[in-house]
Amino acid sequence: MEGRFIVLEGSDGSGKSTMADRIGKYFSEKGHHIEFTREPGGTQISEKIRELILDRDNTEMDYRTEALLYAASRAQLISEKIIPWLKEGKVVISERYVYSSLVYQGLGRGLGIDEVKKINDFATAGIKPDLVIFLDVDPEKALKRKLCIDGGDRLENEDITFHKSVYEGYKELSSHFPEIITIDGERTIDEIFEEIKGLLTI
Ligand code: ADP
Ligand code: TYD
Repeated sequence: MEGRFIVLEGSDGSGKSTMADRIGKYFSEKGHHIEFTREPGGTQISEKIRELILDRDNTEMDYRTEALLYAASRAQLISEKIIPWLKEGKVVISERYVYSSLVYQGLGRGLGIDEVKKINDFATAGIKPDLVIFLDVDPEKALKRKLCIDGGDRLENEDITFHKSVYEGYKELSSHFPEIITIDGERTIDEIFEEIKGLLTI
């Protein structure tokens, strides 16, 4: 496919939106057409699924249901938006992708990486990003950045131990998936972007 597909991964508050914005500006200044998306969400159907998953009242949600809902939201986003955008030659910048499911559901919820990868291989129809960046920020620091803003949704209100296990999950995942590039996200926004810029020659 013609376009470029860039994925930002990391804990809540690690700086994904901030970097997505910077990367977008960088490509736009070079004359590229940009599309931003976030997971779960990004289409009308996917946003409804997002509401279901993040609803604070859905405390009884089974972990498998949760994993399938994330995969369903992703399947819709891929077919309705990402594939057409890439065919049009656009730069697609996504906050989160399959790697989030592998970490949060596979490792965090204990469903297993292989199991969660299987449903996501089905959901994504084999679409792989050109660049995957993991913003490495200590989970307590990342969460503090986030809770300052909105008080947190259902997932952000999980115990800090869950956030720590997610962080450890990203570290583990990086050792299995060489395409994941780890970037130290505890520096200033300018310093982090300067390093990312060096990767945007893809
Ligand atoms: P995410 O999308 O990963 O949840 P955000 O980009 O929304 O994270 O960042 C969360 C908060 O932290 C925002 O208020 C943002 O301005 C701030 N922030 C982002 N990057 C940095 C950084 N490198 N240093 C300090 N604060 C940051
Ligand atoms: P969001 O508010 O978008 O958080 P963030 O700003 O960190 O992206 O909430 C998304 C939440 O959903 C986040 O806590 C991670 C979680 N998530 C999963 O558990 N599995 C997934 O596959 C995805 C895409 C997200």
